[in-house]
Amino acid sequence: MECYSISKWVLPFIFFAVTLAVQLIHCTVTYDRKAIVINGQRRILISGSIHYPRSTPDMWEDLIMKAKQGGLDVIDTYVFWNVHEPSPGNYNFEGRYDLVRFLKIVQSAGLYAHLRIGPYVCAEWNFGGFPVWLKYVPGISFRTDNEPFKNAMQGFTEKIVNLMKSENMFESQGGPIILSQIENEYGAQSKLYGAAGHGYMTWAANMAVNLGTGVPWVMCKEEDAPDPVINTCNGFYCDYFSPNRPYKPTMWTEAWTGWFTQFGGPIHKRPVQDLAFAVAKFIQKGGSFINYYMYHGGTNFGRTAGGPFVATSYDYDAPLDEYGLTRQPKYGHLNELHKSIKLCERALVSADPIVTSLGDLQQSHVYSSESGDCAAFLSNYNTHSPVRVMFNNMHYNLPPWSISILPDCRNVVFNTAKVGVQTSEMEMQPSGSELYSWETFNEDLSSLDQSSSFSSFGLLEQINVTKDTSDYLWYKTSVDIGSSESFLRGEGKLPTLIVQSTGHALHVFINGQLSGSAFGTRENRRFAFTGKVNLRAGTNTIGLLSIAVGLPNVGGHFESWNTGVLGPVVLHGLSQGKLDLSWAKWNYEVGLKGEAKNLISTDSISPVEWVQGSLIAQRQQPLTWHKQAYFEAPEGEEPLALDMESMGKGQVWINGQSIGRYWTAYANGNCNGCNYAGPYRPTKCHSGCNQPTQRWYHVPRAWLNARSNLLVVFEELGGDPTKISLVKRSVRSVCADVAEYHPMIKNWHIESYGHSEEIRKPKVHLKCSPGQTISSISFASYGTPFGTCGSFQQGTCHAPNSHSILEKKCVGEQRCAVSISNTNFGEDPCPNMLKRLTVEATCSPA
Ligand code: GAL
Repeated sequence: MECYSISKWVLPFIFFAVTLAVQLIHCTVTYDRKAIVINGQRRILISGSIHYPRSTPDMWEDLIMKAKQGGLDVIDTYVFWNVHEPSPGNYNFEGRYDLVRFLKIVQSAGLYAHLRIGPYVCAEWNFGGFPVWLKYVPGISFRTDNEPFKNAMQGFTEKIVNLMKSENMFESQGGPIILSQIENEYGAQSKLYGAAGHGYMTWAANMAVNLGTGVPWVMCKEEDAPDPVINTCNGFYCDYFSPNRPYKPTMWTEAWTGWFTQFGGPIHKRPVQDLAFAVAKFIQKGGSFINYYMYHGGTNFGRTAGGPFVATSYDYDAPLDEYGLTRQPKYGHLNELHKSIKLCERALVSADPIVTSLGDLQQSHVYSSESGDCAAFLSNYNTHSPVRVMFNNMHYNLPPWSISILPDCRNVVFNTAKVGVQTSEMEMQPSGSELYSWETFNEDLSSLDQSSSFSSFGLLEQINVTKDTSDYLWYKTSVDIGSSESFLRGEGKLPTLIVQSTGHALHVFINGQLSGSAFGTRENRRFAFTGKVNLRAGTNTIGLLSIAVGLPNVGGHFESWNTGVLGPVVLHGLSQGKLDLSWAKWNYEVGLKGEAKNLISTDSISPVEWVQGSLIAQRQQPLTWHKQAYFEAPEGEEPLALDMESMGKGQVWINGQSIGRYWTAYANGNCNGCNYAGPYRPTKCHSGCNQPTQRWYHVPRAWLNARSNLLVVFEELGGDPTKISLVKRSVRSVCADVAEYHPMIKNWHIESYGHSEEIRKPKVHLKCSPGQTISSISFASYGTPFGTCGSFQQGTCHAPNSHSILEKKCVGEQRCAVSISNTNFGEDPCPNMLKRLTVEATCSPA
């Protein structure tokens, strides 16, 4: 950015100007052992992942501005090869895939970008970001020393780098990109593949560096990353990490803010106190770049979810929720953390820490620079007990598992475990938009054995047949049953069908009737269907509908993993004993009839006869398309979702756009409370146990017309579409709990930063969604209240007018701020005690 103007300015000074200019152009972004250096300045950079295809372009600016207001300097995104190159040489950079537009918004917000090109990205994204056609390039083997793979990878990487260069997107050209990533977490893989792994990794690094982007490259989780590539850390904690050379900075490219959801699993919540602790611990150790994965997770629209079984919501418990709303207190508390880290920036980048023990599990990290800056971090790693430590002859109280930040080495401005910002409880409310007059179309099962597209003796691998153009593949065969079978006369048991599948889900139809279903899991994709089957004398059709629920995105050579019914398929209990159907003649049909007929299309002329909902028997039919035409968009600006609780499993589209897969699989998990203290793992802090893993499906506002919207649902199992509803997401209640400043901090703030008198009075801020106001105050206490949002209680000290003061200032307003000062509450309810103001308020439509 500045580089250009400086280089132009020096050009006339011909002698060393040329060298200097070249240096300046090439060196706008460099690094040293302390930090990434931008235009000559070492920076502590706070970054957050926002993946552009996981939201709609109309949401991008708001997400990026919220990220900026949340204290971020950098937006990080992967590049998703499979959406950009759907078939070899055909590129798509439109709509949700308009990477340049996304980066230009980042730039105009004044933020930097980290472009993680991969092109392997993992990311819980279908096939880890690889286009499925890549699997069919002759002789290919993914992510190893293999010429066809390396050629394809280089081709796509060059395509992206050239696109970025042509749009002046690199910082060396005045653009926002300060870093790029090649590959993704290859270290463990590389070790397994031995020399081929190491050779490929070295090739990838050199290939990338030779593209001459003018900004550094990183490789995450790759401890052998060759110079000048920086190896970086990913994880829940990274304070143990050091780069592989002393002259590289300590960078954390994925600080996991929560975890992804899988159908059948719980919702993962990572407490913000622990996340803030992990970040502070990384910074106190000397880390200078941290990227939240995810800052906004968003939605796996369409069939982009990886797998198998990654849910459509990719909310991730991120600071910005799936819908783009701030998740409080996570967003606000991290923002406070970022501000306090920034107050320490000068000291952090110019010194190494002096680490001193303050107790068994307590330390101080002090950074003092020659120019007089001093910043300190006081840490307590004890997971149970708060402690009082002595530091520089003063006492400090440290809650369990927490770090206090002292940007002047004296006054605490932030403690990771003390959450002072508003907590918001979100809620799905009726949107006011009525869905009525459902119409129905049944997949025609009677023609099971006639309309198949081809046949073969034996069972075929699913992706080889579908090329992933649909989740669905029919395997159909027939069996002749002699009339002498004893089960036909009511003697003996019904025959049992056993179907071995390599993934991911299966519905079994006998003579057009659903006989049962079976599913694998993400950990164990293989499973067996075992069920009694109702056969009749004569010819019976066996239809196996095999379903891919997202292609694998991680694991050694996942491109070679099988999906579908590979057998054996055996009928047990016939008079001849067992009948192995595995090598029978099987008919194959890719996809559903409704997909072939494009039932999701908004064309007014329908290719099929839809049946009015009221004419349909109440019985819930499997394999049914449901259509809702033409409802109106709800008023207002709140984000919208479909409540699919009454349905089973399938996919849903609005105006021809795929909202994604839905599945009301019930969540298994451990929902017995959550203590922030102690190492976070995805096995703790679950929510939503014994409820559908995902009930609500994001409907982007941008996909709706004011009038006349078409909703199409394909249901595999059977459900009640009349109970589907459109809901809007807004704040139900807000809580705030803020302490008055310690007298020392008041004075220090004013002395060091010249703030006005206002700083003396911290404020409680309450904010409902746009279109809402605060309708009542359910709790308010100025004094020494305690408890948490939803269960606050008065303490021994309480100003009796707390409630009426808050009511007067806040009720009827969308937002309000109340200063924590005695004058506001008439008099000091308990002199010489440190007081707090704690409030819980309800939000309602204005
Ligand atoms: C990381 C990977 C990311 C994502 C994450 C889990 O290991 O680099 O792409 O998959 O795990 O959400």
